Amino acid sequence: MSSLLDKIPLPSVSRRAVQALSETTPLLNAIPPVLAGPRRKLGGYDFYRQVLGSPRYVVAPMVDHSELAWRKLSRRYGAQLAYTPMMSAEMYADPKKAGQRYFQPIFGEEGGPEDRPLIVQFWANNPKRLLRAARLVEPYCDAVDLNLGCPVATAREGLYGSYLQDEWDLIFELIDTLHLNLSIPVTAKFRVFPSVEKTVAYAKMLERAGAQILTCHGRTRNQIGENTGLADWDKIRAVKEAVSVPVFANGNVLFHGDIERLLAATGADAVMSAEGNLYNPALFLPAPPTTSNEAPLISSPTSSISSVSGLPSSYLGAHPRHTVLALEYLEFVKTQRTPTSHTSVVGHLFKLLLPALARDAGLRSQLGDLVLRRTATYEPHEKFVRELDERMQRDEKAAEGQRPEALVTIGPTGLPVLPHWVAQPYIRPPPIDAKLFPKTPQSPHVTGLQRWLP
Ligand SMILES: Cc1cc2nc3c(=O)[nH]c(=O)nc-3n(C[C@H](O)[C@H](O)[C@H](O)COP(=O)(O)O)c2cc1C
Repeated sequence: MSSLLDKIPLPSVSRRAVQALSETTPLLNAIPPVLAGPRRKLGGYDFYRQVLGSPRYVVAPMVDHSELAWRKLSRRYGAQLAYTPMMSAEMYADPKKAGQRYFQPIFGEEGGPEDRPLIVQFWANNPKRLLRAARLVEPYCDAVDLNLGCPVATAREGLYGSYLQDEWDLIFELIDTLHLNLSIPVTAKFRVFPSVEKTVAYAKMLERAGAQILTCHGRTRNQIGENTGLADWDKIRAVKEAVSVPVFANGNVLFHGDIERLLAATGADAVMSAEGNLYNPALFLPAPPTTSNEAPLISSPTSSISSVSGLPSSYLGAHPRHTVLALEYLEFVKTQRTPTSHTSVVGHLFKLLLPALARDAGLRSQLGDLVLRRTATYEPHEKFVRELDERMQRDEKAAEGQRPEALVTIGPTGLPVLPHWVAQPYIRPPPIDAKLFPKTPQSPHVTGLQRWLP
């Protein structure tokens, strides 16, 4: 490993003795394991291997962002399993609201052969209503996931997501109901607790209730907004060591090299990515060989940066030109029958194109105008991206022949900043920096952009 890579902080908040982790509440041990239920189905590793195909690269559930067109783009660039955005089970099961559903197999595409393997995620706090919604999606997905991680204020008011964390009996019933009554497995995605012991006990409870895969997001429910900070990979490791079902690790994957670091640090079966995937949907792909000029997988200057400041190219992975990715995404949106919401399209464009937008206020307001106009088709958006693409190609050409060191810099967070024409992670300032450098109206992160940034 290079010296620079060694300097990138390993996300670790708690370092407790692993032996202590195997201790769970005596109460939990008194609960008998749930039987396979009346409808026989594969579970745990059998399900993970035989149905899902042993995925290692997973696209996270993301409201407004893991919709069909994005899932297609992500799969094209290496994703092996995707989740739908979370949906309210209650709303999904309400026939009067059918038109507003995020997941619409009625168009013959979502959950179809090109959209598998797929896990549909619901938030819920009523077992019967959850089951009703799950039955509607059962024929079109490989599992149903229960959201136990949503930290937003409405989740507190409505008692769902991470605010169920204190309602273990209810969670047990929600999962157990699906486990016993659904023909496909139930899985769960959760945030960690401040204490590793409680996190492990919680994970064991979810497994005992019948969850066949656990996704552990290594942040607590208070780690949101400017307090997001780093995910605690030690807690994910502790969960992995404590349960027998597959564990997906989630949190802090920004560059391709972080995938192996996370797998090695936690022993998890797969890595789930949200933000990393949104800013670079090719995150899961390794860098092509340096001799390759095969556009559009990667722009040529970045394909030869293996020696920059001692960073191995395996850390950076593939970084296609973001405008190419945006055009491919818009092509999916245009050609599929399933509608894509305006919110999703502009959300993706702002994130993908951020490296170029962040340095040019004019571009930001052009895209902002398109958002406000809410045109009936996405042709104006496509035209905008095509023009930007020409500009990015010119910038890229002008940089040809420059030494790689001149194109890649190391930012204040110690992470690489790539040329503005390639897809790359959005690196938020650590919480302490956010206090030192409060957002100002001049900051590229406020006003128009702010709405679309997580
Ligand atoms: C735009 C956006 C939407 C999200 N929506 C959901 C969601 O619907 N369900 C969920 O469980 N988590 C959701 N999350 C959280 C992610 O799935 C993930 O747990 C979190 O972002 C940490 O992963 P990361 O470090 O790779 O971003 C969302 C995250 C983002 C950025």
